[in-house]
Amino acid sequence: ASSTEISILGQKYEVDGTTNITQSIIAKLPLRLHNQPAHPLGILRSKIESHFHDFVHLSSVHPVVTPAQNFDSLGFPANHPGRSVTDSYYVNKDYMLRTHTSAHEVETFATGQPKWLLTADVYRRDEIDSSHYPVFHQMEGACVFKTDQVAIEEMKTDNARLSRYLGQSNIVIEDIPHISLTNPAQPTHDPAHSELVALNLKLSINSLLLKLFGGGARDAPLQVRWIEAYFPFTSPSFEVEIFYQGKWLEILGCGVVQQLTFDNAGIPNNIGWAFGLGLERIAMILFGIPDIRLFWSTDPRFLSQFSENKITTFKPYSKYPACFKDVSFWIPEARLHENDFCDLVRDAAGDLAEDVKMIDSFTHPKTNSKSVCYRINYRSMDRSLSNEEVNNIQAKVVEQIKDKFGAEIR
Ligand code: PHE
Repeated sequence: ASSTEISILGQKYEVDGTTNITQSIIAKLPLRLHNQPAHPLGILRSKIESHFHDFVHLSSVHPVVTPAQNFDSLGFPANHPGRSVTDSYYVNKDYMLRTHTSAHEVETFATGQPKWLLTADVYRRDEIDSSHYPVFHQMEGACVFKTDQVAIEEMKTDNARLSRYLGQSNIVIEDIPHISLTNPAQPTHDPAHSELVALNLKLSINSLLLKLFGGGARDAPLQVRWIEAYFPFTSPSFEVEIFYQGKWLEILGCGVVQQLTFDNAGIPNNIGWAFGLGLERIAMILFGIPDIRLFWSTDPRFLSQFSENKITTFKPYSKYPACFKDVSFWIPEARLHENDFCDLVRDAAGDLAEDVKMIDSFTHPKTNSKSVCYRINYRSMDRSLSNEEVNNIQAKVVEQIKDKFGAEIR
C-alpha cells in the first residue's frame, strides 16, 4: 500500500493533513466487543435490548462517517470543539470515526422505524486512565411518535402504564420540570405535547434503570436524579445520574429530538425522544470491573468469567503490583527474532513474566548493529514479589542475553 492511503476495514482512504487516526486505533475497528455475546459489553447490550424488546436492534453500523453525519446533520455549530483534530479521529478531511452513536440518528430515522436501539463502538481522543479509553461503546435509543390525536392518546396510555409500574417499584426519583425557561420546548412544538414526550422519555429511562440497577424489595431504593443538560440535537435536554457507592454517577444524556434531525431524515411531521448511554460506564458498575482497559483483554482469566445473559461480579485475578525492568543491548548484525528474546525471558522468569515489550530500537547506520530496549513486566498472580527476587531474575536475563545472543549490554 502506498503511504498516501490507509486501509480501514478493507476500504482504502486517501491520507491528507487532517489524518490523525493511528494503527492502534485502526486495529480496534474490527473487534466489535458489543457483538460478543459472552463479553460484558455484549451481555449488557442484550440486557438493554431485552428491556426495549419492541424496538429494532442495530449493532453493525460502519464506524467511518462524514463530519456532516457526526455534527452538521445534528445542528452542531461550525466552531464546536468536538470537531477539532485534537478531540476526534479523522481518516482525512472528508471522513472521521464517529464520536457518538448520534451520528446515525438521521439515517436511522430516515428508515421510518419508529423505535430503535443502535449499539456501536465510538472514538474520541482522550487521556488513558482507569475510566478513559480512546475507544468505547455507546447505545443510542429513540422513539418517534406521529403528531395526531390518536398518537397522543396512545402516548398518554403508555405513560399511565409506566407510571403505575414505577409507582410500585423500589425507586426514588429526583425530577425536574419537563420544560423550563432554560430548558425549553422547541418553537415548533406545542409545549403540552413536548411535555408528554419528555414524560414518556423519563418514564422509559427510569424503568430501564430499575431493570439494570434495581435491587430486591428489601434493598435500599434505587436513587435516580434528572438534571438539566444541553445538546445541540435535543431540547429539552437531560442528563441522568444514579447514586452508587456514595456518589452520583452520570449514566446517560437524552432529550426531545430537535426538529432539524427529523427534517434532515425526511420525516418532518413527527415528534420523539432519544438517549445515548455509555456501555463501559454501566458495565464497570454492574460487573465490578475496575479498569476500562480490561474490556479489551483477551486473557482467558478475564473472558472466561463471563457467560451469555448473566451479570456476574468480576473477580480480579492479580491484585499484586507489577514490577517493570528495562534492558538494552546491541544485537550483532541486527539479527534477533523477538520470540527468541521472549523464550529467554520465560526460561529465566517462568510465569512471573507477565508482559514483554520492546520500547525502543535503533540501527547503527555504519555497523548495522541494532540496539533494542525491552521492558519486562514482572508480576505474580498469587503473591507480592520482592525487589530482590525480581533483581535476581533480571540478572539472569541479562546473563543469558550475553551468553545466548553474544550481545553487548548497554
Ligand atoms: N450523543 C450524546 C453524547 O455522546 C448523548 C445523547 C444522545 C444526548 C441522544 C441526547 C440524545 O454525549
